[in-house]
Amino acid sequence: MNIKKWQKQIVYQIYPRSFKDSNGDGIGDLKGIISKLDYIKDLGATAIWISPCFASPMKDGGYDISDYRSIDPIFGTNADMDELLLEAKKRDIGIILDLVVNHTSDQHVWFQEALKGKDNHYHDYYVWRKKANTLGSVFGGNAWEYVPALDEYYLHLFAKEQPDLNWENPKLREDIYEMMNYWLDKGVYGFRMDVIENLGKQPDLLITTNGEHLHEYLQEMHQKVYEGREAFSVGECWGADDHTRILYTDPDRKELNMVFQFSFFAQFWSQKNGKWNPSPFDLIKLKEVLFHKQITETKRSWNANFWDNHDLPRATISFCKGMDRKEASKMLFAISCFEQGTPFIYQGDEIGMGHPLFLKEEEIVDVEARNNLTCLRDQGFSKEDVFKMVSLNCRDNARTPFSWDSTKDGGFSTGTPWLKAPADYQTCNVEAEKNDETSVLSFFKKLIAFRQKEDILPLVLFGDFIPLAEDSPSSFSFLRVYKDQEIGFIANFSPSPITNPWEGKELLFGSVPEDRYIPSCGVLIYRLK
Ligand code: NOJ
Repeated sequence: MNIKKWQKQIVYQIYPRSFKDSNGDGIGDLKGIISKLDYIKDLGATAIWISPCFASPMKDGGYDISDYRSIDPIFGTNADMDELLLEAKKRDIGIILDLVVNHTSDQHVWFQEALKGKDNHYHDYYVWRKKANTLGSVFGGNAWEYVPALDEYYLHLFAKEQPDLNWENPKLREDIYEMMNYWLDKGVYGFRMDVIENLGKQPDLLITTNGEHLHEYLQEMHQKVYEGREAFSVGECWGADDHTRILYTDPDRKELNMVFQFSFFAQFWSQKNGKWNPSPFDLIKLKEVLFHKQITETKRSWNANFWDNHDLPRATISFCKGMDRKEASKMLFAISCFEQGTPFIYQGDEIGMGHPLFLKEEEIVDVEARNNLTCLRDQGFSKEDVFKMVSLNCRDNARTPFSWDSTKDGGFSTGTPWLKAPADYQTCNVEAEKNDETSVLSFFKKLIAFRQKEDILPLVLFGDFIPLAEDSPSSFSFLRVYKDQEIGFIANFSPSPITNPWEGKELLFGSVPEDRYIPSCGVLIYRLK
């Protein structure tokens, strides 16, 4: 089978505020990223997705864009972006930008114009109603904001400073496509598409995801932007199940390459308090979701394999209680690499980074978390309980400054970082791991090199996936079968040793030496045929 370029990528996600600060202002920037391109190349990643770095009032970490064509001064300049594209190209690394087009910032010129009156050309770029309904915002509270001067409400599915764009308006759509083409023409490799499933929203029916015209818009976008280009696209789709994934990613439908699906994580959220009060982790439930995803229509669709991103607490902490965090990081990445699909690494996974230890409410900065400090109190939880719920589950956990070495705050910045550094940066950092053969970093490098080998890659990308031991509360195991080849993958997803079913067979790769027992988090990959 012919492997397409986008299929074989190993994507590394950078949250630019927290990756590397080059000028000592405590905020990561593009020059910081440029200075670390060799590190990313050496790791084996082939593309970088950069969370938004465009002009923004930063009410939502840059996911509130006020100018799609300018780099925000805290991250650098447009010239820095040109340099990043050039330097990345030299290293054969693709740059994937974050496309946030469900909404803009309220400071975007379109919204500022829209506020001038109903006759303004840009008024209809947003979603307005005479009356608000009960639709809720993802960040807490109602999704409608009243503008007295217009006697109308505008929709904001996220913060009130993030007004929703009206995708029913063809002029808006044309402007977005033009902007996407502008960046692709500049040499950008593609886009990670923020909450793309919301584009077809039908707020009067309380429908936010998978609305009536969603797929028409995506097909139109494909035709006007992606057609004829070798570009990469991944959509963020919280509501996508294994069947709707086909709608987005069946190549014949010409929409997107792949989508992020979140039910593996969100299935543990509670009915009433969502992410703030998750139920205990259950490996069998996790496998049910991930295995189902792997066996459903993967010949007509494509998977994005990920555990972490800038919105989720690290999976080594949520899912691997009682296990060694660093060993858990190796195990999770091995699963991502051997499932069908494209693996994503979130910055810090490759060194097994952990969370900060929040000591007081003021240390938490994220807009969603701060809104919920209030919303949860209003629901009757005590101040102590709210602090615990929010500090354990908030998005700041994944957004900590990256730990490069053991100097102050992990060598991220010479200034004061915008967010607290992880609690153990002195021992968990790149410098400490880079020359250690047993480190997470060395493991990631070896694993990537192994997966990308000519005789392994087709099997990982196109082989059948056969789940094993679905009811086991401790192993994560499956076969991959392609033509006359078969490999067996087993990971010990538990704190205690398990028996190795394939001892004595041809071991291809492992995070631990072969033995009768596999220690906690150990991964072994065998050739069975
Ligand atoms: C999803 C992004 O990943 C998240 O960080 C952001 O807050 C929302 N979309 C709104 O843009």
